[in-house]
Amino acid sequence: MQGHVETESENAGRSAARSMKLVVLGATGGTGLELVRQAIERGHSVTALVRSPDRLGAFRDRITVKQGDLLNPAELEQVIKGHDAVLSGFGPRVPVSKADAHLLEQFAVALTSAMARAGVRRVVVESVAFLFRDSIVPPAYLLGRLLFPLTVADASAMERVFAESDLDWTMARPPELTDKPYTGKYRVREGHLPRFGFKISRADVADFMIQVVDNRSSIRKVVGVCN
Ligand SMILES: NC(=O)c1ccc[n+]([C@@H]2O[C@H](COP(=O)([O-])OP(=O)(O)OC[C@H]3O[C@@H](n4cnc5c(N)ncnc54)[C@H](OP(=O)(O)O)[C@@H]3O)[C@@H](O)[C@H]2O)c1
Repeated sequence: MQGHVETESENAGRSAARSMKLVVLGATGGTGLELVRQAIERGHSVTALVRSPDRLGAFRDRITVKQGDLLNPAELEQVIKGHDAVLSGFGPRVPVSKADAHLLEQFAVALTSAMARAGVRRVVVESVAFLFRDSIVPPAYLLGRLLFPLTVADASAMERVFAESDLDWTMARPPELTDKPYTGKYRVREGHLPRFGFKISRADVADFMIQVVDNRSSIRKVVGVCN
């Protein structure tokens, strides 16, 4: 990935990636299921920590599923130990309840402490494009502040927690997510949302996150991704 350069991606790196031991969090969600599906398809080994293991029934024999509390650092640490990296599609279920107003921040606090204790440094996190203050088309930050102020505040707090950690994090910030199929064709821009970045499929976000996990040039970078 090159700094501040908008790039098109088309299946780049699909076959070249080394096999990794990955923990997927939020594995039962829209992006999470795609992370699991694509990671095993590419030969990675996957462990998922979830609150509802039944939702991963389709992958039963192909991944390791642990049931537990994703906000509990000790449980996260046990699961993460011995892995190469963590991929997170974790986030509040929509519509966001009052109880989940600070969920992303709580998750970030638990995960950063668990990873430090487990000695695992690499993490790729799905955040939100609403945090791009300089995006004009679409006016992501303005829209976010107007329509989803709680999400903007919580996602900002989450990113701050990772930024203040010593971990090797990458923030993937997509605009509106869709359930359209994987295309492998999407735009990526470091530090900015690509222009006219209105939507992206969860499958393509997952593709980006899996590709970038083994890419050291993306460490401590925020990346806009869109179709
Ligand atoms: N919706 C959008 O258009 C949009 C746009 C940009 C970015 N994002 C962000 O992208 C991320 C992924 O979105 P998505 O729509 O693919 O995800 P999603 O389908 O809403 O799935 C969320 C995942 O987080 C898990 N989760 C939520 N609360 C939990 C809790 N208290 N304890 C344990 N697990 C919990 C869910 O587990 P269960 O299956 O057990 O509920 C699920 O696995 C989110 O952070 C979201 O904010 C969304």
